[in-house]
Amino acid sequence: AWARGRTVNARPRVFATRNLPGGALARLAQRVSLEVWPDPGAPAREALAAGARDAEGLLCLLTDRIDAALIKGCPRLRVISSCSVGLDHVDMEAATRRGIPVGYTPGVLAETTADLAFALLLAAARRIVEADGFLRQGRWTWERRWDPDGFLGRDVYGATLGVIGLGAIGRAVAARARGFGMRVLGWSRSLRELEGVEPVELSELLAEAQFVSVHVALTPETRGLLDAAALARMREDAILVNTARGGIVDEAALAAALRGGRLAAAALDVFAREPLDTASPLLDAPNLVLTPHIGSASVATRSRMAELAVENLVAGLEGRAMPRCANPDFADFAAG
Ligand code: GLV
Repeated sequence: AWARGRTVNARPRVFATRNLPGGALARLAQRVSLEVWPDPGAPAREALAAGARDAEGLLCLLTDRIDAALIKGCPRLRVISSCSVGLDHVDMEAATRRGIPVGYTPGVLAETTADLAFALLLAAARRIVEADGFLRQGRWTWERRWDPDGFLGRDVYGATLGVIGLGAIGRAVAARARGFGMRVLGWSRSLRELEGVEPVELSELLAEAQFVSVHVALTPETRGLLDAAALARMREDAILVNTARGGIVDEAALAAALRGGRLAAAALDVFAREPLDTASPLLDAPNLVLTPHIGSASVATRSRMAELAVENLVAGLEGRAMPRCANPDFADFAAG
């Protein structure tokens, strides 16, 4: 009776494009009228549009393209919350024009993603995946049970690492590198002075570093940042690691550089198009470690991301400032 005149239907409608690990969605369901896309995989474009059509809140992932047309097709939409740190899948301009705050999840996944970047760096340097395959394929023979010149890789300890992008993830990678006694060069758009990181121009970083790790967001400025010309500036004994976004590296040029021996090795967690096309030249390139976009994939971090995404969403729906709002000059924006 206390709720007279206000039924559950008065709760804001939220469409979540996927079930998320942890208890965040169950708690969200107690406060809003929640519809969760029921399939284990991402909704196709039409299903996304249909699910979001009447929603006031949209909880999405980086696999959902939230473009101007989609936003236009959702007249009641007041809040977008993406369970990701990257937002290249969201048309921020279109959202901002409509006065829609967009939440994201920076900070909570930086250490976990830095762990993966370092795992890939070590795997590529010490040829771990190749060696694992060698053993499993029954090629580890008695005569070569300890091979003086088998699987020779590169030393990580004492080498020079170039970090492209000095946000939270780049800085977390730099911290790990210092533990490995590496010299760390760093480049970012906004020149940052950081302890233990030598600020350099990008061309200098590429020319000097034995390991290069990419940690910038994908924007019009960073798309193709590591194109054929940039890759050609790198040392022939260099190893490239990308856990940021595939569009930053020219994949065809990278595959050609690896095939031509103009780059020692690479490790990629992200691709220009995901999933990776089975016809991609990367799949035939030598000395390349590949993982399927798992940078933030730890039990604890995925659940923290879901929590923060839900906090952003609820704050937006209640007209409060989101804990993490991505719209420029929008941090205090209160959705009406
Ligand atoms: C993962 O790539 C993310 O943007 O969170």
